[in-house]
Parts: sequence; structure tokens; C-alpha cells
Amino acid sequence: MDKNLSDKNLLNEARKYESIHEKDIQSGMRPLFHLTPRVGWMNDPNGFCIYKGRYHMFYQYHPFVSQWDDMYWGHAVSDDLIHWTYMPAAMAPDEEYDKDGCFSGCSVALDDGRHLLIYTGVRNEEQEDGQLRYIQTQNIAVGDGENYVKYEGNPVITEKDLPAGGSRHDFRDPKVWRRSDGTYIMAVGNRSADDSGQILLYKSEDCFNWEYWRVLAANNNRYGKMWECPDFFELDGKWVLIVSPQDMLPEGFEYHNGDGTLCLIGSYDETTGEFREERDQAIDYGIDFYAPQTILTEDGRRVMIGWMQNWDACAIRKSKAPWAGQMSVPRELAVQDGRLYQTPIRELETLRHDPVIIKDMRISGEKWIDGIEGRTVDMTLVIRPADLQNIYHKFTVRFARNDRFWTSLSFRPHERTLKVDRKFSGSRRAIVHQRRCLVNDTVGCLKLRIILDRFSVEAFINDGEQVMSSALYTDPEITGISFFADGDAVIDIEKYSLY
Ligand code: FRU
Repeated sequence: MDKNLSDKNLLNEARKYESIHEKDIQSGMRPLFHLTPRVGWMNDPNGFCIYKGRYHMFYQYHPFVSQWDDMYWGHAVSDDLIHWTYMPAAMAPDEEYDKDGCFSGCSVALDDGRHLLIYTGVRNEEQEDGQLRYIQTQNIAVGDGENYVKYEGNPVITEKDLPAGGSRHDFRDPKVWRRSDGTYIMAVGNRSADDSGQILLYKSEDCFNWEYWRVLAANNNRYGKMWECPDFFELDGKWVLIVSPQDMLPEGFEYHNGDGTLCLIGSYDETTGEFREERDQAIDYGIDFYAPQTILTEDGRRVMIGWMQNWDACAIRKSKAPWAGQMSVPRELAVQDGRLYQTPIRELETLRHDPVIIKDMRISGEKWIDGIEGRTVDMTLVIRPADLQNIYHKFTVRFARNDRFWTSLSFRPHERTLKVDRKFSGSRRAIVHQRRCLVNDTVGCLKLRIILDRFSVEAFINDGEQVMSSALYTDPEITGISFFADGDAVIDIEKYSLY
């Protein structure tokens, strides 16, 4: 699209475009309960919040083609985080300071009822060497839950507010929360002088005037390079810092190459801003998960939604597809024994129908089970050895399966690995198709809760101790599910169709 900044019509054009072209996408072409862009492209969740009694989810959005480009903010609302209603696009890149993109950010409801979108504005600037490079600043739009006006005092945080050595090119993704004394704190991702990431903290009395405070956490080249999309919150007596690092190196089965998402769990002093890290952990061990955001629900649950895609695996969809990108299932978080646990939000259970309950079924070789099929499914599977002296070698569940296509989860108890494999899912790209994680089994016993929703699988391992998520591209009409054991296994199944 040609962009003419003097003409303030970019947002209206996007709103018109999405309201016409969403009709090209019939409901069966989208997931049942995972949020997808109204049209076009989606990446990170943005501004995830509760405002005027409803959940709001904004997202990185390019309506006109299903590919990343100058970013807009898309918008949807929900009463239960499972059923979503689209709202008109919230922001367009239509100001000098955000002309090349309204990048990720958060939202805040002020006491006077105004709703603020706090985001990174990006503009390309020609550098001394003639190269164009992004300049990133933090900005605000003020609104009512539907229409937002960019604040005349933008940008509210610029390179002048960076600590020494902080990059003005990588300075993005503000997340704001309120302290018990009523003041606001903002965490922002930044590249530091050592070329890796750091999370900066800013302080404000009114959410408009910001002052640099300190570094919350420094990467020191430990976990990848630049840290994107911070979130920071208290949970079960600990503080959890979530970041999405770029350019990771693998570490055993914990971290994989490329873009990853991890959390640092520790303690935090609200007065001094000092964060003491105690543990680190991957958030998702599958293929597609990035840039999550959390909210605290009114009944006190910390709920996280991530972008169920990853930059390194994006090539899989063609730009002529009517939509690209989806959010993860909302996940309730807990910290137990120093680990982050995730379980699908309990509201998902309202979609459960047609239970199939199976106890103590012996599996040896391949088996198809009556009533176990579908692409919108919530299935809990408990696997154990038939003979403790002779534990099976491998157990596999295949889904989205017919003779030609399938995706699988395979557990090898002797190696303690669980592998997701979508090589035969219909992908025509040489992207990542497999990933393994190391699980905590007890002599061949494993519990998996598998959530299928037409274009994805999310496997919650051992009551949420680990999660593996992957986008799938198999025709949603392909609904087979089969089981296989190399050796003798015994399984219990509790399976529901979701609709
Ligand atoms: C993370 C990210 C953010 C940025 C946005 C741009 O996926 O790179 O750091 O704000 O996407 O779309």
C-alpha cells in the first residue's frame, strides 16, 4: 500500500478492508477457539487486558496481505477468552514517529476510565552509512475500548531516556503495571552495549510522563541476544520475568536454536526494583510459541496467551492464504517447586461434549479406537508400561491422520523424550518440523493433555509441567487419531469433542 501520512485515512482504509474481506473466511476455515487475525497477518498479542468488564486482545496486524509488513494493531474482545468478537482495527502506522509500524505493547485502564495503548513506534531513519535503520520510541494512544487517538505528547520515551550503551534501534515492547502505591512501572526490551538484551524499567505517576529507573535484568549474552516482549508479575510468592530472546543457542533439550521464549523465576523488591534470579526455564518446548502476554483475571488467575507461531517457522503459509498467525489457547499459570506450570484455561471445558472414557486399554503395535477422532479435541492420555520389568520402547499418538498425512507425539521412556513431529502434516517448506523435550516420567508413565483445534496441537505434559505447541497445516477434514506402542503399553483416555 502507498502510504500518505498527510492523509489520516490509513486506519479507516484498514477498517473498511477488514470488514469487507473477513467475509471471504468461512468459520470452518479458522480454528474454533484460537484467535486468528480478522484478515491478513497476525503476530504478537498486544494490550491484553480486562477493560470495562471484558477481555480485550489487540495484536500485531497487517490486514492487507497475510505477511508481516508495517504493523497495525488488530483488536478482538471476549467474555470468556474462548469466544472472540472482532472489533475494528485499533491503530495504523500513521504518525511520523510510527510511520513504519505500531509495534508491540500493552494497555492500561486509568482511574478516570480512559484506556491507554502503550506501544513502540518505529520509523526508518537514514544512518551515516546510508543504511535505513529503525528508530524505536514508546508512545501512547488514548481511547474508550474501540477508538483510540494518538497522544499529542508522543513519543513519551525516546533514545534520550536510555541508559549508556542502550540501543535506540532495539528498544521495544513496553509492558506496564501498577504498584501498590498507585504509581506505574514500565518494562521495555533493549539491546545493551554487549549486543545482548536487557530489560529496562521506567517509572511514572500518571502513565504519561516517564522517567528512567534502572535495569531490571541483563541478559549478558546468556540466553540468545536481544530480548523481546517482556512481561513481569508476581505469582505464588515468586516473581516471574518472561522474555522472548532472539538468536538463541540450544542448551540440551531446554532451549532450541533461534527465537525462543523463557522465564526467569526469582524474587523482587518493589521498592528498589532489584530482581534476584533463581531459576530459568523454557516456556514452550514445541515449535510455535512466542511473545506471550499475561493478565490477572478478576478471580485472581494469571492467564497467558502467546503467538502460536515462530519467526523461524513462518514460511509455511502462502501469502495468498486469507489469514496467517494464531494465538495459543489461554493458559492458567502457577509456580510449583520453582517451576512454571501451565494448564489450558478452565473455560475451555465449556466446549466439551461427547466424552469417551477408556481405562486400562492394552496397546501393542498400532491401534485405532472407536470414537477417538476429530480435529477439535480435548484428550487426556495416561500411558504406562504393561510390564514394569519390560518397559515398552516407544509410544506414539498420531492425529490429523489419514494414510498420507499425520502429526505425532512420540514418547521414548528409555530416553525420557517426547517428540512432536509434523513432517507429514502437509507442509511444503523446509522449516522446523520436529522438536523434542526431556520429560519427567516415572518408569514409563506419562500424562498428556492434547488440545487440537483444526490448525494446531498443544500438548500439556504431566499436568502442565511442560507444554509443546505446534501449528498444523493439514486439511481440517483429516480427522483420524491412532495409537502405537513398540512393546506393551497400557493407556487410559478421557476424550471430548470440542464445539
Ligand atoms: C516480536 C516482535 C516485537 C515487535 C513485533 C513487531 O515478535 O519482533 O519485538 O514489537 O514483533 O511486529
